Amino acid sequence: MVRVLTALTSFVFASYALASSSLEVRTTQSAAPKDPFLVVIGNTCTVIPKGAGQDDAPTILEAFSRCGKNANIILNGYYVVGTLLKTIGLQNVNIQLSGTIQYTPNIAYWSPNSFFLTYQNATTFWLLGGQNLHMFGGGTIDGNGQVWWDTFASNNNAGTAGGSSTTFARPVPLTIFNSTNVLVENIHQIGSPFWNNFVIGSSFVEYRNINISSVSFSSAPAANSDGWDIYRSDHVTIRDSTINNDDDCVSFKPNSTNMLVSNLNCNGTHGISVGSLGQFAGETDIVQNVWVENVVMANAQNGARIKVFGGNPSPTSTAGGGTGFAKSSRHLHQFHAENVDNLILIDQCYMTAANVCAEFPSTLIISDVHYDHVFGTASKASKGVVVSLTCSDVCQDITAIDTQLTAPSFPNVTYVCSNIASMKQVCSFHKIFLLLLIG
Ligand SMILES: *[C@@H]1O[C@H](CO)[C@@H](O)[C@H](O)[C@H]1NC(C)=O
Ligand SMILES: *[C@@H]1O[C@H](CO)[C@@H](O)[C@H](O)[C@H]1NC(C)=O
Ligand SMILES: *[C@@H]1O[C@H](CO)[C@@H](O)[C@H](O)[C@H]1NC(C)=O
Ligand SMILES: *[C@@H]1O[C@H](CO)[C@@H](O)[C@H](O)[C@H]1NC(C)=O
Ligand SMILES: *[C@@H]1O[C@H](CO)[C@@H](O)[C@H](O)[C@H]1NC(C)=O
Ligand SMILES: *[C@@H]1O[C@H](CO)[C@@H](O)[C@H](O)[C@H]1NC(C)=O
Repeated sequence: MVRVLTALTSFVFASYALASSSLEVRTTQSAAPKDPFLVVIGNTCTVIPKGAGQDDAPTILEAFSRCGKNANIILNGYYVVGTLLKTIGLQNVNIQLSGTIQYTPNIAYWSPNSFFLTYQNATTFWLLGGQNLHMFGGGTIDGNGQVWWDTFASNNNAGTAGGSSTTFARPVPLTIFNSTNVLVENIHQIGSPFWNNFVIGSSFVEYRNINISSVSFSSAPAANSDGWDIYRSDHVTIRDSTINNDDDCVSFKPNSTNMLVSNLNCNGTHGISVGSLGQFAGETDIVQNVWVENVVMANAQNGARIKVFGGNPSPTSTAGGGTGFAKSSRHLHQFHAENVDNLILIDQCYMTAANVCAEFPSTLIISDVHYDHVFGTASKASKGVVVSLTCSDVCQDITAIDTQLTAPSFPNVTYVCSNIASMKQVCSFHKIFLLLLIG
């Protein structure tokens, strides 16, 4: 499998190489731009910041409209973005972000005007889409999240996601939408009001050398600050990056297939998650072929988790009852956890009362999940449970090898394994302290 993913990754790079060499031979004769802050030379559009806190979004939009095909866009200044960036349908575009894009913390404007993405009511400041896109440059995307987190906390955390209300919707700073062949590299992301990155309806998207920091400086936590959320997408790679936040490091939502996570350093996060899946009755959720390797997971609530709602008898349920599968959804290699509450977690009764889950087990099948060399320590909050695998229906083909987990504050480490078909393999992490709870 590693070989397959590597081959596909090189294919993505090969396409970029083609895209950039074709750029060099093309030039376009352009009429003078209407916007005096846009400099167009050949096929390169450079955006000059207006300064004095004025909105640079109109100039940036003009740049994407003039240089949206076989062209280069240079964002090398300090930009204030106070209105929606919708830049889609691009083709062969290099976006050099060596400056900073800072979104205004204008809750009254953004809540009704950020782009609504439907899934979990998420909205975005920047909807970016097209084919053969390369964003790079060492610059920063600053979501100005503190104001949003503080307001969210003072609202009693009303609205879990963006557009759950048009008066308070926390946008995602960068969304890759309806795209193929996208490489985002060498970018800093700070202060996201909500998820940092959302990939929706896209394929062959790669992120590397991304440094994410969503850290609150007040008593309000940095809420829902996931590093990445992937939805209805195929072949997404996230590698060589650092994440410091207070929610999922990476989260694979419904219909994420062929995902590669490699060489991440996640601190303070909620781990690498598959799910939640199976939330909506009548919906089919698929997560297949997720490969995770070389991850350092420190001070986290979870290490690696799969969360699936239990079943639900109601055909219109929005709290379980969905179907589908999570297959080959977790191949972990070299996963190093330090001070993690739930190191290895499968929960197929997620947000479902135990009695409901027992009567209506999930019909979303979890199978073919493998843990290879997961090592490290559990936190005090773990209460000594280092592995918890709870399936409501039987999970098939779950294995673990070379697992070395300790819980320094506890004399005994506990392994909870419930409804796992291949119990012998998976629950022999540490034979001496094995505890089986057969559900
Ligand atoms: C989305 O918003 C609607 C109201 O517009 C709300 O009923 C629903 O619970 C919200 N969903 C999420 C996941 O926030
Ligand atoms: C998605 O992109 C394709 C071109 O690749 C385009 O034809 C289609 O209209 C786009 N869909 C949306 C919803 O923007
Ligand atoms: C990430 O950025 C933060 C500042 O936001 C910096 O302190 C840290 O060293 C960076 N980490 C890496 C690995 O570049
Ligand atoms: C890592 O996360 C912990 C817990 O959230 C935090 O206290 C610590 O400052 C973070 N470390 C770094 C280097 O940011
Ligand atoms: C996931 O893909 C399956 C198979 O193509 C489809 O039936 C289902 O509707 C998709 N689910 C979502 C949430 O997109
Ligand atoms: C600790 O392990 C011993 C020996 O396996 C067992 O008898 C005891 O009940 C365990 N204690 C707890 C709190 O799990």
